[in-house]
Amino acid sequence: MFLRILYILLAIPATLIVLHTIIRIVRHFNKFPMPQWMANLIDNPVRRKFQPPDKTAIRHKIEPGMRVLEIGPGNGTYTLATAHRLGTKGELVTIDIEPKMIERVQRRIEAEGVTNIDARVADVYELPFEDASFDLVYMITVINEIPDIPRALAEFHRVLKTAGKLVFSEILLDPDYPRAATLTRKVQALEFRLKVKIGNFFYYTLIFEKAKKVWVSGISRGKVQIWE
Ligand SMILES: C[S@@+](CC[C@H](N)C(=O)[O-])C[C@H]1O[C@@H](n2cnc3c(N)ncnc32)[C@H](O)[C@@H]1O
Repeated sequence: MFLRILYILLAIPATLIVLHTIIRIVRHFNKFPMPQWMANLIDNPVRRKFQPPDKTAIRHKIEPGMRVLEIGPGNGTYTLATAHRLGTKGELVTIDIEPKMIERVQRRIEAEGVTNIDARVADVYELPFEDASFDLVYMITVINEIPDIPRALAEFHRVLKTAGKLVFSEILLDPDYPRAATLTRKVQALEFRLKVKIGNFFYYTLIFEKAKKVWVSGISRGKVQIWE
């Protein structure tokens, strides 16, 4: 009897790990936005323990009065926490490629009477915003759903102000989870440099700053590339 219970207890995590791995492999070759019916499923107590919405806004270095762009709000829990931290002088624009996700967020904004959020349908490849118009762009468990990451990063770079921040939060529970080192390499290949890393292998936040690569003369070996 004892052994049977032990087998069942071991079988549950083993099944979850196998399922997670299968989904990861499928997602690696097939990138598409998360179905909207999963939005509430991923907003669960286990996840909130490691990525609490109010603390996540603080980790992201959101400050009152900023103009912030969020990519992929899901059911809007982190959106509302960020808007709260921005205060009435700040503004949060949140975009999602899925109209049904935006409808969800809009319903929550109306229900809670929040006035500093602008939620709209848009694609990361063609952000409907002016150059240098945001202090900070952030996304939580979104980046690996985007098939052409360099193209999206170029758009984030365009809409960020000088020295604006680009922020990613990730958690291992997500089948699209990228390793922090892999994400850092991809982002720094463009004109961003890593400023802050918070967390560990299981969940983390990376904060990059918009930078410009320039060529300058080195002391003894011709030219070297540095960050401005
Ligand atoms: C895994 S969910 C994360 C939701 C939320 N950030 C959270 O952590 O609970 C990913 C979100 O990114 C959105 N998304 C995926 N690809 C996108 C794209 N190309 N442009 C805009 N949003 C996108 C999805 O529709 C979905 O809302």
